Amino acid sequence: MDKELKILVDSEKLIARIKELADEINGYYEKNYGLNEELTIVCVLKGAVMFFAELSKYLNMPTCMEFVSLSSYGAGEKSSGKVSALNLSLPPLENKNVLVVEDIMDTGLTLKFLLDFMKTKCKAKDVKLAVMCDKKCARKYDISPDFYAIDVDDKFIVGFGLDYNENYRNIPYIGYFE
Ligand code: PRP
Repeated sequence: MDKELKILVDSEKLIARIKELADEINGYYEKNYGLNEELTIVCVLKGAVMFFAELSKYLNMPTCMEFVSLSSYGAGEKSSGKVSALNLSLPPLENKNVLVVEDIMDTGLTLKFLLDFMKTKCKAKDVKLAVMCDKKCARKYDISPDFYAIDVDDKFIVGFGLDYNENYRNIPYIGYFE
């Protein structure tokens, strides 16, 4: 990309906010189920990989990690409007608590698709959504995260898992192009 990469949320602030979010999540599960009940955390690859790794360090309940791979963007900055399920294999989740972990909720298409799948096909007991970035201004589907770390406006952001044409996922902060 032919523009300058600027910092939107630096690494230190982002990690501090993710720790706070983990506290909120711990609080929810402790209040509703106690901290001995197992939680399955589901990472939506590829974008969620860094947020998932960071968030999971601070969760206090017994936790199983699962990974699915979905794609709706392909190359470029706009959603294709269609979700490709590259890998949706999960163990039986009937009557389990499930926390789906995503890097960003944009139009909401990807998480609407996954939430419907979790509720109808997997029959999980409690499915919640945790996202790093909530881009409310881009929403096209009636869905919102149960937990989110930061609000973002209409910028195209990269870093901490978020890509532009598969690049920039590894930078340790959230950036945008100007
Ligand atoms: C991105 C992001 C979310 C989704 C959000 O995934 O990681 O999964 O788009 O957009 P939506 O709310 O409009 O569905 P992408 O398809 O780019 O795949 P990736 O995770 O491999 O980068």
